[in-house]
Amino acid sequence: MADKFDVVIIGAGAAGLMCAAEAGKRGRSVLVVDHGKKPGRKILISGGGRCNFTNYDVAANNYVCRNPHFVKSALSQYTNWDFIAMIAKHGIAFEERDHGQLFCEDSAKEIVAMLLAECDLPTVQQRYQVDVHDIAKTESGFSLKLNTEQVECESLVVATGGLSMPKLGATPFGYQIAEQFGLKMVPTTAGLVPFTLHKEDKEAFAELSGIAIPAVVEAEDGTTFRENLLFTHRGLSGPVVLQISSYWTPGQKVTVDLLPDLDLEETLNAMRDKHPNQSLKNSLSRLLPKRLIEVLIERGDLVDKPLKQFNPKDITAMANYFHKWTIAPNGTEGYRTAEVTLGGVDTDGLSSKTMEAKQVPGLYFVGEVMDVSGWLGGYNFQWAWSSGFVAGQYA
Ligand code: FDA
Repeated sequence: MADKFDVVIIGAGAAGLMCAAEAGKRGRSVLVVDHGKKPGRKILISGGGRCNFTNYDVAANNYVCRNPHFVKSALSQYTNWDFIAMIAKHGIAFEERDHGQLFCEDSAKEIVAMLLAECDLPTVQQRYQVDVHDIAKTESGFSLKLNTEQVECESLVVATGGLSMPKLGATPFGYQIAEQFGLKMVPTTAGLVPFTLHKEDKEAFAELSGIAIPAVVEAEDGTTFRENLLFTHRGLSGPVVLQISSYWTPGQKVTVDLLPDLDLEETLNAMRDKHPNQSLKNSLSRLLPKRLIEVLIERGDLVDKPLKQFNPKDITAMANYFHKWTIAPNGTEGYRTAEVTLGGVDTDGLSSKTMEAKQVPGLYFVGEVMDVSGWLGGYNFQWAWSSGFVAGQYA
């Protein structure tokens, strides 16, 4: 005899646990299964162990999705304020960092403990180290095998996340389920991920590893972000690079304003008037890290000579160079270090109100498995909470 549940949720991550708690509160019998040993592994390592769980300012334009309107319904049914209220109810202390990002003051463990406390209902069961296979549609819902045991449910919720960080249990299983039931996929790629550089650039900039500068970075589609850019021994990273990576495709360039708070033309002209014999290297080293200037000179991008030897046209060109420094990444570090997966289950096949597959009653997708990726800053967890919550009201 198969074990029967109203709802089976595959994946005990952020979205799956939220959905389980909500469906359980409605009196639905819920089984959450995960192939890992424990719940919420990505939550535990997120935000440097402090989990950037949401943001004070959440809107549809903080998300990358082929249908830019898709996220609106879920985000308004369960807002950042709803999640903050849950945090407050559980007495979790939190702090605001730059750009409205909210982090636990103490530990991400508190978020997992909170979700487990919300799931601590007679209606909700959890099972770990479970391999799910043989999913099939039945007249009244779905049947599936969990290890060797047969289980049946009315609603099946796929909360298996994206492909990033395979070490933490990421698998393409959710995509396979979508394809099995005829849903379309948006091709996947790594997002919120550092750039790697072509050999020559990599060798030149590797010695700047560890240097961070505030910058504005622009993708070819005109999207811009302003945050810190970090040189690494593999290429470019830092929040501004992670953000722009979600808007970059191979072969494209990015344009970097290395001095976003300054009019370099005006500044260099003033420096030349005041200190005509000062070298370009020394002048620019007052504005940017000296090693960066030295590397640009070594590469032949700049010529070091006294300022008086630069005419106004040279200075205009130099200002343009720093305000529109252009670099063509070789690629990204890929899923190994990416925070999210761009693409996934095409939202056209899903109800934006409930997350249910339009053509397969009872089948739901929540969280990162679908083609919704947020910016850096707590937006991905907010999507997991919101989409998990709404599916929990209907599954
Ligand atoms: P999640 O990945 O959380 O959960 C999926 C679950 O499904 C996992 O438990 C997995 O084991 C399970 N699973 C997968 N395949 C399975 C299978 N075949 N059978 C059974 N179970 C299976 N976001 C943010 O907003 N703020 C932040 O601070 C960070 N920080 C951060 C750091 C790092 C290093 C990473 C990699 C990611 C982040 N993120 C983030 C992104 C955030 O972690 C991510 O978007 C959410 O965890 C997505 O939640 P889901 O529940 O959709 O998937």
